[in-house]
Order: sequence, then structure tokens, then C-alpha cells
Amino acid sequence: MCGIVGYAGKKTALPVLLDGLARLEYRGYDSAGIAWIENSSIRRKRCQGKLAALRDILEGGRISDAPIGIGHTRWATHGAPTEENAHPHTDCTGSLVVVHNGIIENYFSLRNQLTEEGHTFRSETDTEVLAHLVEKYLEDDLSDAVRKALADVEGAYAMGVLWQGAPDTLVAARKESPLVLGLGKGENFMASDIPALLPYTRDIIFLEDGDLAVITADAIEIKRIDTGEPVQREVTTISWDATAAEKAGFRHFMLKEIYEQPQAILNTFRGRIIPETGRVEIPEIQLQPEAINGLSRIVLLACGTSWHAGLVAKYWIEEWAGIPVEVELASEFRYRRLLVDERVLTVPISQSGETADTLAGLRIAKERNSPVISICNVVGSTITRESRGTIYTHAGPEIGVASTKAFTSQLTALYILALFLAQTRETMSADERASKLRALAKVPGMIEKNLKALHDACTGLADEFYQHSDFLYLGRHLHFPIALEGALKLKEISYIHAEGYAAGEMKHGPIALIDRNMPVVALIPRDHVYEKMVSNVEEVRSRRGIIIAIAEEGDEDIARIAQHVITVPAIAEPAAKPFLFTIPLQLLAYEISFARGCDVDQPRNLAKSVTVE
Ligand code: M6R
Repeated sequence: MCGIVGYAGKKTALPVLLDGLARLEYRGYDSAGIAWIENSSIRRKRCQGKLAALRDILEGGRISDAPIGIGHTRWATHGAPTEENAHPHTDCTGSLVVVHNGIIENYFSLRNQLTEEGHTFRSETDTEVLAHLVEKYLEDDLSDAVRKALADVEGAYAMGVLWQGAPDTLVAARKESPLVLGLGKGENFMASDIPALLPYTRDIIFLEDGDLAVITADAIEIKRIDTGEPVQREVTTISWDATAAEKAGFRHFMLKEIYEQPQAILNTFRGRIIPETGRVEIPEIQLQPEAINGLSRIVLLACGTSWHAGLVAKYWIEEWAGIPVEVELASEFRYRRLLVDERVLTVPISQSGETADTLAGLRIAKERNSPVISICNVVGSTITRESRGTIYTHAGPEIGVASTKAFTSQLTALYILALFLAQTRETMSADERASKLRALAKVPGMIEKNLKALHDACTGLADEFYQHSDFLYLGRHLHFPIALEGALKLKEISYIHAEGYAAGEMKHGPIALIDRNMPVVALIPRDHVYEKMVSNVEEVRSRRGIIIAIAEEGDEDIARIAQHVITVPAIAEPAAKPFLFTIPLQLLAYEISFARGCDVDQPRNLAKSVTVE
């Protein structure tokens, strides 16, 4: 997730671009860059780190009064957060520049092909192929060249292009990454998100997938990328204030991030799976098949929510790849006598990549010659730098302290890792892998379709239960860790005591807690332990507990045993169910926290990244 801005008008572009980028820094701040056209030539300034560093560089020199420009604030996905990898990127001649948010899935083959054709690359980014592709097709019409270039591209993009041959024109295009246009008087804008534009205009056009816009100071012309046909898009007048706009109209970052999950999951598996053939491609793992086949064990190492993701993955990896898995709390792992050697693969899982205990555990595993492959959301973070390879989750910055989209993205990365191991070890047929990948590919759409209804249902429940002081969460098999995660979400943001349990453990103690005041959130997917789970819920009912059942659509039986039922979309593949069952638990915790007046995004005593022991 990066932020892009563009301006074509009559006043000085640079302050508008810097101001817009500042309002988009929540989308990433690994590096920043800006380009403009002055005396018919492209000029560009970029630097590593936050926008403030770029501002210092610009303010240290003469500020150009150019009336057109583009800017970028980066959340690194391909290539380290360095100045060379900062946007805007240029073609070979330096006469055109591109800013981009998204992922070009076939960048590797495009880069090879363009290199063979004589293009010289200067960065490690996927974006740079866009600049060279546009260069390849450019004759005298920039928008035509962009359309031809995009015909070669697979993946997601929101992009802006400037060319010194058309010094009044900015070309923007989008597919599957957000991009809005702003309409002013004698000036027009483009940006990844509305907050960047609110000081200048409230008249916004939401570009649709496959749209390209030719933007000048006095006009915006929109056409389809594939056919070139002109299209009209509605102008929406935005009424949000600036703070609400930063959260895209959501009350809190956490809620926004819950709603971003379909995109985050999609971004994490995009380009890594081929559902038709059952293939998984994760070359960044940098482990040879012989090493994978020789593994004796896998250690998944993490804290908090990331540990819960590891607990789910244990079931997948053991079942599909036949390798024993231990899921370790990093704070415990680091102080034990460890039986770890070169045949044990260590996989630290961390959103931030900076969690002190996880990092310490990683270092100890490395001292014992264990190969380390991390799963992480933050490119260039310490854990990724110290790992042999990293499978990045592409969730974008997570700002709310409670982890939501990072969790489901970690599940996604672990799901494909488990299938990759099964593929390499030949423990699962291509057909079975294909079926599991097809199920994963359906998940984002299923979540998206159901989100609003689920949210309404959880709001209703929160109104009824927000004053309770204790909750139990029950699940079995894959949904035991999801119960743990549901309980953690509730306690960390609402300060209500909540416990997650394996439902089969109830009679070994916790059932003593059940009375008519105890809400019990029971996760009841239709899987091979469904009947067992139903029996456990019956046990709660006979002790007069209040049952809040999370069940699948079409499961009519649950309403007979539970006082409250929330349904999630039914998916046939059992392994994909945890994604869908996680969402209502996040929404319920969120709405209860909100109803109690808690600080949802920055709960007391917590930090987003725990960099101390
Ligand atoms: O950045 P990490 O994934 O390493 O962080 C681990 C935990 O601190 C984190 O998941 C924490 O439990 C969250 N607040 C949970 O919502």
C-alpha cells in the first residue's frame, strides 16, 4: 500500500503535492519522491524515509513554480526501502516518470523481456517496468502508450505518468488499487485517497477498474484502458471532515482495517498461486527442495495474534505436508533448552517485524543453524533483514493496535506456505491443491459480500452485551485458535475479561464458570468436529449459559440450541473456514469496545509494536 498524488493546474504544484502526500503517509512512509516538469524537462527528487526528509531536501533548494507534478509515499513491497527504489521511476531517457501503488504480478518476465530489448533498469521495484513499457510504446500520444503498456501488465495498479513531451498533461490509470480524481477551478488532481484532496476540492470522481484519465488544468477526459472508449463518471461531493477522511469515513482505523481484509488477503496470495493447476510459487523463500524434503520439524515462532495465526497453520502444515510443527510463544522459546538444528525450519511470524521476543527467538534459532523464513508485513524490518527469506503479507500499514487485517493476511501466507511444502514434498495431489487454492481465491469475495450484514448483526449483539464483564470463546480444531483470537480481540480493546478455550476442554474445569450471566461465543463451522462442537454447546445450554453461536449460512439447527446466531458464508473447503469465522469476532469486539467508550485504536497499556521484552 503506497500513496500517490498528482496535480495539473495553474499554481505551484510542489506544495500541493507535499501536502497531499503528508495526508497519505498513513499508507506508508518508507520513502518519498516527487517529480515535476520545468523548462520542458522532467525534474525529480526522492529520498529514503519519511516525507519530512524530502521536504527538507526541497526546502534546502529553490522551490520550482512548475504547475504540474506527481508524488509518492512508499510502503515497500518489491525492493528495500532505499532512494533507488523510491518513486517516481523513470524510463531509460529520463523523459517520463511514473508513480504507482499496487503490485505488478508479471514484472519479472516483463523486466527480462524489456532488458533483452535494451532497456536499462535502475531499481529493484516492480513499478519500474511500467516506465519502460510506456517508453517502449510511446510515439506522440502519452495516453495511447499507457493503454498499450497496460495491456501487457498483470496485477494491480493505481498510477500517474508525466512526460516532458506533453508538459500540460498527467495520465492516471487504475485497476484494483484505489484512485480518485479531484475537480477544481483551473486545476485538477489525482490521489490514492480523498484526504489528500480535501483542502482543495470536495468534488471527487471515483475511477473504476480499467479506467484511464487524461488530466490537464482545465479538463479531465476518462476512457477505458482496453477499448479507448470515452466514459462518463459521476462527480460525488464529499462532506467528511479531514479527520474522518483519513479513516475513509470509518469511525476508527480498526474498523477501516477490518473492512480492508478482502483486499489484504487478495494482495497476499496474488501472483503466488495458480488455482487452475494447483501450483504455488514463492521463490522468495529461498529453500531448495532437498532442504524442504530433509526437514525434521518446523517451529512457528510468534507473539499475540501472530501466534494464533501460527496455531491455525500447525493444522494445515501437519495435515498437508506431513511435517511435525511446534508453535512457540517467542517469550517462552527464548529461555528454554532448545532442540533445534539445521533440519528444523524456523518461521517467525510478525506483523511489525520488530517484536523483541520474536527477534530474540529468531537469533537463537539461527545460532543453532536453523534456516529462518519469516512471515512479515513490514518490508525491511529487522526480522526480515535477519531471515534467509521472507514471505511478505501485503496487508498495507496497520494502524489500529488490535491486529485484524494483518492476522488474516498471515493466515493467507501460511495457507500458501503449507500448500507449497505439500507441493515440494509431494504429499498432496495437484488436484487437491487446486481445490484448496480455488477455495482461498473465493475468500475475499465472500468476506466482502457479507461484511455489512455481519457488521449490523454484531452491532445488535454489542448493544445487548457490552456491559457484561466476562466472556468465553469456544472452538475446536482449526477454530480453537480462532476462539483464542476472538477472546484476545475483546479483552485488548474493551478491557472485558475473555477466555478462549478448546471446547473439548470445558468439562475439565471452565464449565464451572457457566451460569445465566456468562455469554459464550461458540464457533460452529460445518466440519468433521461439528457434532462434537454441538454437544459442547448443549452442555453450556443445560447450565443456562448465554450462547452466541457463529455458524454457517443455511445451518438451521443451530437456532434451536443458541439464543443468538450470527451466520457467515458457507464455504465447502474446511481449511478456508477460519478466514470467514474470524471477521464476526473482530466486529463484535470492535462494537463492544465502541459501546463502552474505549479508545479503540490505542487501547490502554498497549503499543502497536512491542520492541522491548
Ligand atoms: O508485530 P507482531 O505481529 O510481532 O506483534 C505481535 C503482538 O504484539 C500483536 O499481535 C498483539 O498481540 C496485537 N495487539 C494483537 O491484536
